Amino acid sequence: LGLTPKAKPHAFFKPIMPTLEDELILPDGFSYDILAAYGDVINPKGDTFGFNCDFTIYFPIKGSNERGLLWVNLEYINDKYMKQQYMPLFMPNSSEDTMQRYHQGGAIIEVYRDKSGKWKMDTSSKYARRITGFTPFELTGPAAGSSAIGGKTTAIGTWANCSGGMTFWNTVLSCEENFETQARKSNLPSEHYGWVIEVDPFDVDDQTFKPRKHTALGRFNHENTCMGITKSGRIAVYMGDDKQNACVYKYISNGKYEAGKGKENSKLLEDGSLYVASFAQGRWIKLDATEVSKRVHDSKFSVPAVLKMRDQTVQSLRAMFPANATQAHVMVNTHEAAIILGGTPTDRPEDLEISPFDNSIFIAHTNNAAHGNIHGHITRIFEKEDDFESMEFMFEIFAAGGRQSGFSAPDNLTFDSDANLWVVTDMSESNIGKGVYEWHGNNGLFVLPTHGQNTGEAFQFASGPVGSELTGPWFTADEKTLFLAVQHPSATWPRRKGDVDPLPSVVAINGFKGNNLDKGNNGNK
Ligand code: FEO
Ligand code: CA
Ligand code: CA
Ligand code: CA
Repeated sequence: LGLTPKAKPHAFFKPIMPTLEDELILPDGFSYDILAAYGDVINPKGDTFGFNCDFTIYFPIKGSNERGLLWVNLEYINDKYMKQQYMPLFMPNSSEDTMQRYHQGGAIIEVYRDKSGKWKMDTSSKYARRITGFTPFELTGPAAGSSAIGGKTTAIGTWANCSGGMTFWNTVLSCEENFETQARKSNLPSEHYGWVIEVDPFDVDDQTFKPRKHTALGRFNHENTCMGITKSGRIAVYMGDDKQNACVYKYISNGKYEAGKGKENSKLLEDGSLYVASFAQGRWIKLDATEVSKRVHDSKFSVPAVLKMRDQTVQSLRAMFPANATQAHVMVNTHEAAIILGGTPTDRPEDLEISPFDNSIFIAHTNNAAHGNIHGHITRIFEKEDDFESMEFMFEIFAAGGRQSGFSAPDNLTFDSDANLWVVTDMSESNIGKGVYEWHGNNGLFVLPTHGQNTGEAFQFASGPVGSELTGPWFTADEKTLFLAVQHPSATWPRRKGDVDPLPSVVAINGFKGNNLDKGNNGNK
């Protein structure tokens, strides 16, 4: 195929070559342990691990890098594998709807490294539990209790949990992405989904910190969140809307973060302003209900092309934003408000992450076949004066997918402490190994230095099993373990004793030497 191994391997591992092998391939010296697969029992009650694991966060127990809780998003259920054998024994003969809603949401599992160095799940855990399509949620923020959401202050369950983020107060933010399908199947109002949810993994019965959906962060096909502190001490949350021609958002809290207040800081996500990025102007536009109403009800208003593609009309938009529209209307119909006010439609923004070195913000723009962006790119935003609260920014295309870089369809991102950007890829299964995707082999995991001599170059660290995408990379604080979810494998992996189906599974990767992963010879520092 004309591909040669990278001439200048990244210092701490020897990059692998693309492959179509049905295995999780890692560089020499690295190995993986399977922690939990679809259907595995996770706790003494008998709850089971759901389908299509995605985002992970490791929460240390007593500060340990070798025992902690692992939050795992469970994104969606493939009906082909929706079998009673993977349901908990206490839910016999479940209906199709019950099975679908049970297998999605989130799992909290307890994991530890045993004396031999192998990572395992502790199924005797008192913390391990499931968040599902039946878990009660409270709604917070402008849309809670509003007419835009049928006056409701609660919602039933969560699903389509794709990626997410960790708060500074040790809770999980998990993003409801492609929520529409399940809402339709379960015959529930879709306005209750498409939000960012917050859960405290340590609150065993969900009573002290009730699971909640934060409507102030807007409703769209939420991919992930990444959080920073502005120079004035406020919270900034960056978010992508993973749809073709959709926007990049940031939220700024009105109140200031106070570390001593612990989980009470969650209130910061209830009261603030939501902005959309105009890449054409390099500025953030505030999503203001009065302004949206004014534009939509102007006699000269015509429907922007991007909204026409979603079948919106002048009438439907006027119904969405009545003359006396409130912030609730904007929070429920965020994409429409953003486009009307001049937000830039982009190429499917997936994860965003903040560089630990310089506060620049990286965005995985996965692709947009509609206008020929086949392999996607990684965009980097520089806020004015490096302040997350700035209303102006510059940006660059940091790296482009394709043969030269080796990656295609960048998706989830994470940073290590030396500002290497870890990028997983998500080419659709029907494209893998074919046509313009042939060079890329299966979906993989790539490492891109963001400073020093190899800046912007991609080095392949892992290749996923047949059909899969790798999701949710997350390091322990000592960076000796990398957690990774293997989503929708479709051949035979993981092939444990007794497995009959390919099973989405979450793994721990061993072989890292510790902090400053590339503190070798690649010219950094
Ligand atoms: Fe569920 Fe945008 O990935
Ligand atoms: Ca994704
Ligand atoms: Ca991420
Ligand atoms: Ca994707």
